[in-house]
Amino acid sequence: MDPIFAEWGGLLLRWVHVITGIAWIGSSFYFMHLDASLKAIPEIPVGKGGAAWEVHGGGFYEVKKYLEAPVHLPKEMIWHKWQSYSTWISGFFLLVWVYYAGADLYLIDPQVLDLPRLAAVAIGMGGLATGWLVYDGLCRSRLIKHEVALATIGFAFIVFMAWCFQHVFSGRGALIHTGAMMATMMSGNVFFTIIPNQRKIIAELLAGRTPDPSLGKQAKARSTHNNYLTLPVLFLMLSSHNPLTYSTPYAYVIVGLVLIAGALVRHYYNVSHAGLGHPLWTWAVAAVCIWLALWISSASSPIGRERLGLKPLPEVKFAVSAPKAPAHVADIVMGRCSMCHATEPVWPGIGIAPKGVLLDTPEMIARNKEAIRMQTVITHAMPPNNLTEMTREERRKLAEWSESR
Ligand code: HEC
Repeated sequence: MDPIFAEWGGLLLRWVHVITGIAWIGSSFYFMHLDASLKAIPEIPVGKGGAAWEVHGGGFYEVKKYLEAPVHLPKEMIWHKWQSYSTWISGFFLLVWVYYAGADLYLIDPQVLDLPRLAAVAIGMGGLATGWLVYDGLCRSRLIKHEVALATIGFAFIVFMAWCFQHVFSGRGALIHTGAMMATMMSGNVFFTIIPNQRKIIAELLAGRTPDPSLGKQAKARSTHNNYLTLPVLFLMLSSHNPLTYSTPYAYVIVGLVLIAGALVRHYYNVSHAGLGHPLWTWAVAAVCIWLALWISSASSPIGRERLGLKPLPEVKFAVSAPKAPAHVADIVMGRCSMCHATEPVWPGIGIAPKGVLLDTPEMIARNKEAIRMQTVITHAMPPNNLTEMTREERRKLAEWSESR
C-alpha cells in the first residue's frame, strides 16, 4: 500500500474511533451516574425507578426512570446503541488497518512465534470471538447471581487470554488484542443482550403485558460490566504508544493490575454518585497496582534492571533466514538512529527504545523498512530535529533502499 495513503487511512480511522468512543463512553458514564443518583418520588416508589434533577447548559432537566410500565409509553424513543456499534466497527477496521495489514511490523514477532500472516490474523479474530463466547457463557450460567465470583472468574479469564496472546503475538499486538477482546465483550453486550432485551420489554409493554423483570436485570448487569471494563480497556488501547507497558514478558500481569486499578476507580465513582460515601481505599489500592505495574516494566528494561541490580536480559537472536538491510544502509541507520533505537539506548534521557522501535541490527533495520521510510524519507520526523545530523545524501540513500522492493 502507498505509505502516505496507509498513514492517512490509519489516522482517519483512529480519529473516528476516538470520537465514537467518546460518545459511547460519555453516554455510558452519564447513565451510570444518573442511575446511581435516582431518588424515589410519589409517582415512582422505591425499587421501581426514580427521578433526578440535573442542571446543564443553562437549563434544568427532570429525568425519570421507570423500571415497570409507565402510564404512557411513547412510540418514539431515543436509543443509545450506535455509539457502541460505531466504536466497535471503527475499532475493528483500525485493528485490520494497523495490525493485520501491517502484521509483519506490529503483530508478528518472530522472537515469539514466526507465524504466517494469515494464521496470525485468524488467531487474532478467533481470540476476539472466543472472548465473547466464554464471557457470554459465564453470564448465562448461574454465576450471574454471584457478582464477586463472576468478577473473579472473568478477571482470571482476561488475564489468561492476555497471557495466551503474549505467546503468539508481539507485545503490543498482545495488549491490543486483549483490549479489543474486552471491547468486543462490551459491544456484544449492547448488541446481543441490552438492545434485544429492551426491544422485548417494549413489545410486552405495548401489548399491555408485564415484561419479565429478568430482562431488565440482565441488561443492567451487562451494562454494569461494561462500566467496570471501560477504564482498563482505554489503558490497553493507549498501551501501544508506550512500549514500557508491553515490552516485558510480564505484560499479562500488567493487564491484571490495570484491570483491578481501573475497575476500582470506577467503583469509587459508582459508590460516591449513589451517595453511599467516598471509598478512598479504592484509590489507594489502585495506586499500589499502578506502582507494581511500573516496577514490573522497569524490571524488564535494561536500565531499570541495572538500577535494581538484576542480571541483564538475554540478547535478541534472529532466525538465520531473517532478511538483512544492506551494509551501507545499516551503517547509516546505526550511525544516526541506534543511539536511541537500541535495546540499551545511549542517548541521555532515553531509557527504552522509543515506541519499541529497535534499529540496532541489519535484521531489525530490514524489518522496519516501511517505518524508516515514513520517518526519514517521506517526512523528516526522525532523527528528531535532526539531532544526530543526518545528511541529505544519507536520506537519499535510505530513500533508494526503502523504495526498492
Ligand atoms: C535522539 C533520539 C532519537 C534518534 C537519534 C532517533 N529517534 Fe526515532 N524516535 C525517537 C523518539 C523519542 C520517538 C517517539 C516519538 C513519539 O513519541 O512520537 C521515536 C520514534 C520513532 C519511530 C516510531 C514512530 C511511530 O510513531 O511509530 C520510528 C520508526 C523511528 N523513530 C525511526 C527512527 C530512525 C529511522 C532514526 C534514524 C534516522 C531515528 N528514529 C532516530 C527518538 C530518536
